[in-house]
Amino acid sequence: MTSSLRSLIGDSNRYLKALSLFKERTTCYQNTYDFIDNQLPDIMASNLKGKSHLNIIGVGSGSGEIDIRILSMLRLKYPLMSVDNEVVEPNPQQIHDYKDLVFETPGLDFTNFTWNEMTAEDFEDQWKEKNLTKKADLIHMFQVLYFVNDPGATISFFHSLLNENGKLLIVLLSGSSGAGKMVGILSKKFSDTEIKYLTSTEVRRVLDTKGLKYQSYPLSSLMDATECFIEGNEEGELLFDFTTEVHQFKKSVPPKLKAEIMEFYRNQCCSVDENGKILFNLDSEIIVVDQM
Ligand SMILES: C[S@@+](CC[C@H](N)C(=O)[O-])C[C@H]1O[C@@H](n2cnc3c(N)ncnc32)[C@H](O)[C@@H]1O
Repeated sequence: MTSSLRSLIGDSNRYLKALSLFKERTTCYQNTYDFIDNQLPDIMASNLKGKSHLNIIGVGSGSGEIDIRILSMLRLKYPLMSVDNEVVEPNPQQIHDYKDLVFETPGLDFTNFTWNEMTAEDFEDQWKEKNLTKKADLIHMFQVLYFVNDPGATISFFHSLLNENGKLLIVLLSGSSGAGKMVGILSKKFSDTEIKYLTSTEVRRVLDTKGLKYQSYPLSSLMDATECFIEGNEEGELLFDFTTEVHQFKKSVPPKLKAEIMEFYRNQCCSVDENGKILFNLDSEIIVVDQM
């Protein structure tokens, strides 16, 4: 019954609409910026000591808000540093918006941007074909590993590009968050579909198996999901699609299963009701993997 369900990311227009709405309705971005401004400088201190140049790779950077925040933080803390910033992002509209953001943001001339309009997997193939040996001091993947074919292989490849003391930042839904619990259920219900789910629990397992050293930092996040429960509300449907990763969730999932999942979504293990507002919990984890 569910085998014909499609993944939201396969419909680029709808995905970008949903992502942009999600950005407005969530505390995730503000909390990520707070992490970048207040915790990342200490995490990177040993990495940056004595350096005047830094190589960064952003994987699945989207329209670049988080990347630019990192660059602005570095500029503030290390005013004499120059940066090479490789952007790996397959969506042309996202790259276009990122370039606009660079154009609009003053003071980025210490950074040289290289645009790789491709998936992480194609970037890896290209890197290997060209026998490149460049190393990176910081590689980040904010909310992107969900979409790669083989997260373990992608982690191994990008980890192999780190310089001594380099850091790989992986940011993903926490397995114990409301959304994490929900995708645990969805992955069982939709195991016969093209939609794949991932949380920090699986990524930790991969890192442990590979014997990689890492630290983890919590990233709290809530999304106002009230509209998701208003019948026929288009914005609510987009947010529901975004958080379940299912294209046209409400129209595509069989009614009984849809009711069951919607009930779970607003249940107290996933959401809190704050004076009639339904706040869906999307707490994430920032996993900082060391080079050694
Ligand atoms: C949830 S968005 C996150 C964007 C950005 N990192 C942020 O946090 O705002 C996921 C991004 O991953 C990109 N993406 C999808 N599949 C990918 C792949 N296989 N390799 C690299 N990026 C991918 C999408 O185009 C999208 O921009």
